[in-house]
Amino acid sequence: SGKITFTMIKPDAVADGHIGAILGKISEAGFKIKALKLTQLTVADAKKFYEVHAERPFYGELVDFMSSGPIVAAVLEKDNAVEDFRTVIGATNPAEAAEGTIRKLFARSIGENAVHGSDSDENALIEAQFHFSGREIF
Ligand code: CMP
Repeated sequence: SGKITFTMIKPDAVADGHIGAILGKISEAGFKIKALKLTQLTVADAKKFYEVHAERPFYGELVDFMSSGPIVAAVLEKDNAVEDFRTVIGATNPAEAAEGTIRKLFARSIGENAVHGSDSDENALIEAQFHFSGREIF
């Protein structure tokens, strides 16, 4: 067992055919899948999920992008899950992401950056509950 983090494979990576490769990297890195689904955010969902970024200049673009197509949402478990997952995905900007990270391998750009990872244990739980009911988390 261990702590949890929440992730989304974003619309760019789903459209580019990277679901399997990204889930493989996640599994190889030692994360256990506690919840998993293909879904699509409405504009209202995306606005709410990214509320913390509402004042940022890229908020509109972010909401439009995240609601533009299917995503994969997942809850992952591992010791030190939040921090270790952020290491596996790499920097927000793929141009600055370390070699071998998910964003370096699969992201298109800073906005279309392939994956989301929670930034704290508290947000991981909030984000997991935003996307999944109790019956969908194992
Ligand atoms: P993430 O860190 O998962 O959550 C916030 C998202 O905002 C981030 O990924 C990017 O997808 C997006 N983002 C951050 N900075 C920019 C930017 N300068 N331009 C466009 N999108 C951005």
